[in-house]
Amino acid sequence: MSTAAETKAATASLPSKGMLIDGNWVDGASGGRITVENPAKRKPIGEVPRANAADVDRAVAAASKAYAQWRKVVPRERGKVLLKIAEALQSRTEEMARTIALETGNALRTQARGEANMTADIFRYFGGLASELKGETLPLGEHVLSYTRREPLGVVGAIIPWNAPVMLAALKIAPALCAGNVMVMKAAEDAPLGVLLMAEICQEFLPPGVLNVLTGYGEECGGPLANHPGIAKLSFTGSTEVGKVIMRAAAERIVPVSLELGGKSPSIVYPDADEDWAVDGIIAAMRFTRQSQSCTAGSRLFLHEDIFDSFLKKLEKKTTALKLGDPLDEATDIGTIINNKQFTKVCKYVDEGLKRSDAKLVFGGLPPKTGPLSEGYFAIPTVFADRSNDWRLAREEIFGPVLVAIRWSDEAEAIRMANDSHYGLAAYVWTHDIGAGLKTAHAIESGWVQVNQGLGQVPGMSYGGYKQSGIGREFSLEGMLDSFTQRKSVTVNLEVRRS
Ligand code: NAI
Ligand code: MG
Repeated sequence: MSTAAETKAATASLPSKGMLIDGNWVDGASGGRITVENPAKRKPIGEVPRANAADVDRAVAAASKAYAQWRKVVPRERGKVLLKIAEALQSRTEEMARTIALETGNALRTQARGEANMTADIFRYFGGLASELKGETLPLGEHVLSYTRREPLGVVGAIIPWNAPVMLAALKIAPALCAGNVMVMKAAEDAPLGVLLMAEICQEFLPPGVLNVLTGYGEECGGPLANHPGIAKLSFTGSTEVGKVIMRAAAERIVPVSLELGGKSPSIVYPDADEDWAVDGIIAAMRFTRQSQSCTAGSRLFLHEDIFDSFLKKLEKKTTALKLGDPLDEATDIGTIINNKQFTKVCKYVDEGLKRSDAKLVFGGLPPKTGPLSEGYFAIPTVFADRSNDWRLAREEIFGPVLVAIRWSDEAEAIRMANDSHYGLAAYVWTHDIGAGLKTAHAIESGWVQVNQGLGQVPGMSYGGYKQSGIGREFSLEGMLDSFTQRKSVTVNLEVRRS
């Protein structure tokens, strides 16, 4: 444990960033700071302001002021601004990728570069959609003109997590601004630097106040943002627990809300898929190379009993060949858990699995206490078997590289177990029998089912959760229209005559 004086000395020379309010890079009203840590070294790498309710007030006021003009900008012009941002982001992807890797612990080669590129793609995708903010006309007869307009909602309050911070920020900023809204976003306290870099790039092209980015803690800054009377829409990505808090805040003021929450997604492997491609797919679906800190991680592996042991053997061979190490090292496949709190939580789950006599450790285990990996929050990919779908490790979102393998023999029973969860975000089905695979895909209660692949989201897909995994869709054209516009009907009587 370091003393307060030591901490102060260690952070005195840290690069210090401001947050974005009304086009300016500012400190928080309290003057407090948050230290950002490199989780691979457990060393501070920067400082950001610790925003509170007063800063939320300032940011919402700036956004409200900017809204009056931004909503009137012709959509195609707003789209052009997003396209310029996309190109500027694209030209700085390496700097962005390094920032993401440094503050999140996600490996540069396998994760952070992909995220930086995807972020530019998201702006490009939504920039091109600006002309699609169309309305409809209703055929009510020759004497009536009735049409709808897609109008923006106003100031969007957005709260994002740390696991893919820049991409998740882009997924809210681009559709919201394209549709004519303005935004106050709170970055996650564990990973604000990439988001601030993106905000800096956005700000080169945006009028002041259209995008405001605050750095602060959940209750201290996210709370006042969720409850602010000037916020017209809430968009949240993070835990189901905090999602409920956000929805309650929205209920108080009847504010629309989009929630992208947790998951405990099933992967169902049929007996004919005991092959290398399926093993690679399971590793991808489990998101082992992002330490499984992903809401779509396929963390419950339902293996047919005929292939149970042989499949796990192949999985062990391929997974243990992945290299854990410094996220910035090009040779690294797997980086680190984000922070001590999450690391401790993941270790507790592993420990519980190890202690249970009725659960078998297939491979993995607790992280090493000495050696280079003990310098950071490195968690080892771990698989437990031999228990059913009913223990804590098979029910709770671990958000770490802990996979449970569960046996099945009857297809209907596999589907029943897969659906026996309060989550319903993603799912994966593995078989050469496409008919069986699709029937199972249709029977699974999840917002996104992949058959024979375990890839990440792409712009354009309608992505979001069933059950407690969330409400609303944001990744697509209809996501933008549903989540960031409201429809107004205008009905005109054409038969009024002068008397
Ligand atoms: P979290 O849900 O607490 O944090 C997400 C965001 O919400 C952060 O910006 C945080 O500052 C903010 N927040 C926290 N409490 C708030 C409050 N009372 N009011 C307003 N904003 C608040 O997630 P955390 O603590 O980082 O991780 C805990 C667990 O959440 C993970 O183990 C994982 O299971 C889940 N999670 C799921 C994510 C997903 O993408 N589905 C992303 C991050 C976490
Ligand atoms: Mg950190």
